[in-house]
Amino acid sequence: MARRISKKKQKRREEFMLKEKSKVEEGVFDTKTMLTLRRLFSHGVISGLEFIIAVGKEADVYLAAAGDKVREEFVIVKIFRVETTGFIRRKEYIIGDPRFGKVKGNLYNYVNVWCKKEYGNLKIAAALGVRAPVPYAFSGNVLGMQMIGEEGHPSPSLRNTRLGNPDGVLDYVIEDIRKLYGGGLVHGDISEYNILMKGNVPYLIDFGQAVVIRHPHAMEFLHRDITNLLAYFERAYGIKRDYDRTLAYVLSAGKERNGNV
Ligand SMILES: Nc1ncnc2c1ncn2[C@@H]1O[C@H](COP(=O)(O)OP(=O)(O)O)[C@@H](O)[C@H]1O
Ligand SMILES: [Mg+2]
Repeated sequence: MARRISKKKQKRREEFMLKEKSKVEEGVFDTKTMLTLRRLFSHGVISGLEFIIAVGKEADVYLAAAGDKVREEFVIVKIFRVETTGFIRRKEYIIGDPRFGKVKGNLYNYVNVWCKKEYGNLKIAAALGVRAPVPYAFSGNVLGMQMIGEEGHPSPSLRNTRLGNPDGVLDYVIEDIRKLYGGGLVHGDISEYNILMKGNVPYLIDFGQAVVIRHPHAMEFLHRDITNLLAYFERAYGIKRDYDRTLAYVLSAGKERNGNV
């Protein structure tokens, strides 16, 4: 059955096709990425790219207009860079993870596995009730997910927010790290940059490197996450929390499920 789409979305669709063509010509996206974007587009996940909101070392993040399969107005599109060597450097996050252990060593494969891994990790986070973007779809090196933000504006990072209730926010984040751990996952890159503040509510983002707790370095990553988090709140707000007590609290959630949530 043909899907009906609104006029607005139809118009966006046509514009998308045109812009897409010119972007390949201008060399903004490589052809493979473009084909992948088109796939998300034809599956109704996105109906047009709006603008770029972050240029990272390993990925670029765009705000997109949602397609008719998504019940929100916007979608965040994270496009993992194929030309970067960062993924090879970070392959320990993949190799030690029993879910993704065997990857043939070509760059495309690493990037695609990384993207799939972030999608899978976000699914787990959502299932555990952790505040993080809901993943909508991935294909190749492109991931579509919920925008954390309001009225078309992505939320600022913790780093760029002056909190009124830093103690409460810290408790929230520790609670989320604990929930993740209880569900068998360690984020592995918790920082003031990877926490977005939607009003007073912190959301964790950037789950590509998150590993299941069977990963040989999972405890090391957990240690680093808690250390970085506590250090930031101490530096920015003078809050002193005991590392050992915080770790013990997080670990108390730990009924190991081998990452199969
Ligand atoms: N779901 C989202 N909602 C709103 N903004 C986002 C979302 N995901 C990413 N961003 C923005 O894009 C930036 C980079 O995304 P991130 O996933 O942290 O990628 P990187 O691996 O490049 O750090 C974030 O710091 C944030 O500003
Ligand atoms: Mg980040």
